[in-house]
Amino acid sequence: MIRLDKFLADAGVGTRSEVKQLIRKKQITVNGVPAAKPEMKVDETADTIAVNGKPVLTRGLVYYLLHKPAGYVSAVKDNLFPTVMELVPPGDDLFPVGRLDKDTEGLLLITNDGDLAHRLLSPRRHVDKTYLARLDKPAEEEDISRFKEGVDIGDEDITLPASLVLLPENEALLTIHEGRFHQVKRMFHSVGKEVVYLKRLSMGPLELPGDLGKGSCRELFPEELRALYLAAGLTVD
Ligand code: URA
Repeated sequence: MIRLDKFLADAGVGTRSEVKQLIRKKQITVNGVPAAKPEMKVDETADTIAVNGKPVLTRGLVYYLLHKPAGYVSAVKDNLFPTVMELVPPGDDLFPVGRLDKDTEGLLLITNDGDLAHRLLSPRRHVDKTYLARLDKPAEEEDISRFKEGVDIGDEDITLPASLVLLPENEALLTIHEGRFHQVKRMFHSVGKEVVYLKRLSMGPLELPGDLGKGSCRELFPEELRALYLAAGLTVD
């Protein structure tokens, strides 16, 4: 459910104050009944909202949470390899938010919401990303402090503080707050370990659902979308 004035503003009907005017003048109907107040809640998937009798089309934004398998590239098009777009329902303007390497698995958001994607990828916003990495040898206690301080991975700047949790069987959890090219692999390489398997478990408030099989996707639940909007600095109602 969303506030009527927010729904109308998002749909491009006018600014919030313009749509409030329209509501006051009884020019907006919800399921045929003139809307009583701007703050009333509407269900954009079920209610018919009209301006002067003309139904308002929603922006048609979709958000898929994909469990990316290895072997797919995070791109809209590729000449050599299958892309993650083959794993979500077809739709215009869909694209992956950020990239996972071809051999990386795990959580990938695919949407047509450019504004949200832009904000989530902005270096200013530092949306946390947590990865499960399996290494060629165990990570060490001192890697925890190295990653906390930042490491030189050959870029102009050292990496931002990242948190490392050591796990059995040469595995580790790494949470980073930026998204540089091959960042996790390069960070481990900088401390003498190679990543042999990598899976993204979370991005900001989104977590890879345990029951979402590799190669499967589902639409975000409203509460997941709400949390994501907040993480991106967008208000929801
Ligand atoms: N870091 C990497 O090295 N690879 C990924 O796919 C994601 C983060």
